[in-house]
Amino acid sequence: MSDIDPDKLKMFSFMLFSKLEGAVTSGMIHLGDQLGLYKALAAAKQPLTTAQLAHTTQLNERWVREWAYNQASAKMISTQNAPSPIPNITDDTFFLSPEQTVVLATDDHPAFGMGMFHRLPQTMESLKRMPESFRTGIGHNYDSHGPEGAVGIERSFEPWTNANLISAVLPALNNITNLLQQGAQVADVGCGAGGAVLLMAKAFPTSTFTGYEISQYALDRAAQKLSDAKLTNVFFNDARTNPLPTNHSLDFVTTFDCIHDMTHPAEMMQAIHASLKPTGTWLLVDIKAHDTFALNAQKNPMAPLMYGISVLSCMSSAMSAPGGAGLGTLGLSATTAQAMATAAGFSQFNKLDIDHSVNAFYEIRP
Ligand SMILES: C[S@@+](CC[C@H](N)C(=O)[O-])C[C@H]1O[C@@H](n2cnc3c(N)ncnc32)[C@H](O)[C@@H]1O
Repeated sequence: MSDIDPDKLKMFSFMLFSKLEGAVTSGMIHLGDQLGLYKALAAAKQPLTTAQLAHTTQLNERWVREWAYNQASAKMISTQNAPSPIPNITDDTFFLSPEQTVVLATDDHPAFGMGMFHRLPQTMESLKRMPESFRTGIGHNYDSHGPEGAVGIERSFEPWTNANLISAVLPALNNITNLLQQGAQVADVGCGAGGAVLLMAKAFPTSTFTGYEISQYALDRAAQKLSDAKLTNVFFNDARTNPLPTNHSLDFVTTFDCIHDMTHPAEMMQAIHASLKPTGTWLLVDIKAHDTFALNAQKNPMAPLMYGISVLSCMSSAMSAPGGAGLGTLGLSATTAQAMATAAGFSQFNKLDIDHSVNAFYEIRP
């Protein structure tokens, strides 16, 4: 104990509680999204007092004020001091900068960031199941996060996908846009709520698209969205009862952010190989990762977030059945992906030059 450096002790304690600040502020971000507070600030033509914000959102002013103080002191929202000469804290006003507006309040902007915060309560709720998982080794699949978990996933990925899949990602693949225009058989494995499938199906009406999922909540949302979209070239299958074809009949298979979540990714890669024509293409999109923990920790400032989400969500899903591979959020580096694809029978593996904050893109061929 005599070796304790008082300055280091203070710094470490500060760092510890800064983690708690982030966690608690994350909860407040969830509320800002859920209660429409960000959207109300974004829609206002001028900075709002908390009384005005509470009035617009039909919420209680005292609660809105405390929330605004958390958000402004965390620099999530902007504030300016009241012009009134009489000191009155409730005269402070709050607003969103243009950058805060797109990240917090613009659902269809590619930088929209509320998806992970949407499912924060469900993600944190899984802490209750963790002690047992740490003892047994068995995790929990995506449906353990309930229906709002599926909505959160959808809100996380769709804004970027909607803005970039057709215009930037598909053209980066050899001849795929042309093939889709002519008419192709396509599968999206781990399709979630079906956003990518529906987007591609609308853009390429002569092709047929099938989404495969094991989450009932995601499949339910996909079915609802399909009924709203009234597309006739889309199908959604429960991958457990109706898996990929095994007769080399597909032209194009996509997997978006899901191989690292799977209990049996090697077997899935073999299944994708068996589903594809010899001339087919697999677009693998998965989380950018380095080959070792040391490199991830050194080069990725978000590594603690990624490893934590892995325990609560990705690795838990990948360990949700006995014998699960448990790759987890940062478990599929380019080296690992290429080695696994080669073992599954693929002979061509190219990393695509597509800029994304979290994901890497690979064109893989039999
Ligand atoms: C992070 S989500 C991504 C969903 C979707 N691709 C997207 O981009 O929004 C991962 C999905 O993979 C699904 N999944 C996990 N194992 C699967 C399997 N063996 N077959 C099909 N889907 C699977 C999960 O249920 C979950 O919906």
